[in-house]
Amino acid sequence: MAASVASAPGKIILFGEHAVVYGQPAIAVPVTAVSAKARIQPDIGAPGGRVWLRAEQVGVDAALDELPAGDPLAAAVRAALDALGVGQPPAFRLGVSSTIPLAGGMGSGAAVSVAILRAVSGFLGHPLGDEQVNALAFEIEKLHHGTPSGIDNTVITYAQSIFFVKGQPMERLSVGAPLQLLIADSGAAAPTAETVAAVRRGWEAEPQRYEGLFAQIGGIVRAARAALAEGDAAELGALMDANQVLLQELDVSSAQLEALAAAARSAGALGAKLSGGGRGGNVIALVSADTSAGVEEAFREAGAAAVIQTRVA
Ligand code: MEV
Repeated sequence: MAASVASAPGKIILFGEHAVVYGQPAIAVPVTAVSAKARIQPDIGAPGGRVWLRAEQVGVDAALDELPAGDPLAAAVRAALDALGVGQPPAFRLGVSSTIPLAGGMGSGAAVSVAILRAVSGFLGHPLGDEQVNALAFEIEKLHHGTPSGIDNTVITYAQSIFFVKGQPMERLSVGAPLQLLIADSGAAAPTAETVAAVRRGWEAEPQRYEGLFAQIGGIVRAARAALAEGDAAELGALMDANQVLLQELDVSSAQLEALAAAARSAGALGAKLSGGGRGGNVIALVSADTSAGVEEAFREAGAAAVIQTRVA
């Protein structure tokens, strides 16, 4: 058996996070500047069936059998073995690493799952197709947070900009003119499971108000799809700001995220909003060639731990 390596990009949600869990559409794009990698080496000399997992960033260095059923890395390995009907694989060592900020709203969990599913199935000589990788990664997302919409695993598996509605086949987005975005990592880890659960509690307590907010977000996402197709950056910026107001109303923003978004707008960004689960994680800003450097500096002055540039084309 030959060594096998696979990687998967990060992602950002441009519009529609949280409302997408309740059936509204959302728009997400891959971010290839960051990625998760899974590397497999045959473990010559180890007993057959022995699988060793090492993921330093999350403190895992153990045999697959020793990891609990709920461990998402172990779940991805087991999902690939089960999908291929392999009970006892040739012994191998799996190393996982990622440059995607952990719990930062950029899909680190889904990217790690996709990379592992591809590396394990490639190592066994039967690479899983995208559709199967996506379906299995969705099951593993449920371990990360109970009620995912499926948008993270979908945008990451296909590495395409998508218009997504839960439970429906994704649509590839048409982009009329390339967009330049900056992603500011607030440095505050915010597990999506917690923000998704907080929104659920809010929705259970005030269903009508929350349904109204979700519907307004859905309207913004549909308008954004049209503006993206037309390449109307000014309109997209205004829609990002409007989406951010509604995310504030859902109570998933924070003083720090608001300060980052305000700094970006003052430095000339066309629009800015949190992206992903919120209450931490990242803020994205729509910029142009003229404003990019100034907005990046403003993000850093406002306390961003890191700033990533990305293009949507
Ligand atoms: C997380 O990237 C996006 C959320 O809408 C959760 C989900 O869709 O599963 C917050």
